Amino acid sequence: MQTRPLGSTGLQVGAIGLGAMPLSLRPSRPSEDDALGVIHHAIASGINLIDTADAYCIDDTETGHNERLIGKALSQLPPHERDKLVVATKGGLVRPGGRWVRNGRPDHLRAACEHSLQCLGVEAITLYQYHAPDPKVPLAESIGELKKLQDEGKIRHIGVSNFATDQLEKARRIASVVSIQNEYSPSCRDPELDGTLAESQALRLAFLPWSPLGGMDSAKALGDGDAVIEHLARRHRASPQRLALAWLLSKGPMVIPIPGASRRESIDDSIHAADLILSVDELAELDRCWA
Ligand SMILES: NC(=O)c1ccc[n+]([C@@H]2O[C@H](COP(=O)([O-])OP(=O)(O)OC[C@H]3O[C@@H](n4cnc5c(N)ncnc54)[C@H](OP(=O)(O)O)[C@@H]3O)[C@@H](O)[C@H]2O)c1
Repeated sequence: MQTRPLGSTGLQVGAIGLGAMPLSLRPSRPSEDDALGVIHHAIASGINLIDTADAYCIDDTETGHNERLIGKALSQLPPHERDKLVVATKGGLVRPGGRWVRNGRPDHLRAACEHSLQCLGVEAITLYQYHAPDPKVPLAESIGELKKLQDEGKIRHIGVSNFATDQLEKARRIASVVSIQNEYSPSCRDPELDGTLAESQALRLAFLPWSPLGGMDSAKALGDGDAVIEHLARRHRASPQRLALAWLLSKGPMVIPIPGASRRESIDDSIHAADLILSVDELAELDRCWA
């Protein structure tokens, strides 16, 4: 698989990563053995960026469920293979009663990061992303705490998620930010309009599109009944999902989609997006279809 730089970290990762969320949420959550099999399959297929979060769980009685799965899968690998992997996790959301609630208080972020270290079974987290800005907490305090955790060696690199350009600018005044993770897919083209895509590429930040196929509930129906998508898919012998990921990759050299998967077949299909070359005219056609 072609690789891309993970922002300014000096790390190269496969152009397609793995979003691990479907391994922990309902209804896609597989058995633990199957989930570990999916993670190992992704790694064996050449994926070396895995995106997770402490909040990928059913509710706050099992915070860290997704990270524990990844930690277990990693512990079953020989050290030389483990060292090649980049696990990107996040803190700043909590799951009371299964809801998604922001908590960017410094004491929470510190406790969350330390819990993530335990769940993943690592001494330092390669990429720690602030999951979503909490309007009740000054951004400088939340990012300031991540900077402290970085200075202490618990975090190697800091990323942000669900950030607008002005929030990104504020965060960058406090810490070096290497990545931004926002929703971006054929059904959500906000990053092209709100400036986050252009800004991230100009600053050489990695842009990780979340829900790149439209999200767990919609991904499988992507392109259904659309004659142009079906025609392009036939021409390239590719699924609409693979077309969508290749289209996202064309949006910038630092774009690294992280499609979610709870099945090996999804991974087998998605990774080939990294080798799918679409012409300028085909990309323009997709732009029109997915406008
Ligand atoms: N930062 C944030 O706020 C935020 C929010 C949401 C998600 N995320 C991250 O982004 C990742 C991706 O988002 P997502 O999981 O919500 O949505 P998604 O990637 O748009 O869709 C995931 C679904 O797509 C299916 N799929 C994947 N590749 C496929 C293919 N080639 N053909 C057909 N179906 C395919 C998977 O099915 P199977 O399950 O059957 O394999 C999976 O359930 C998450 O896993 C998570 O890591 C971050």
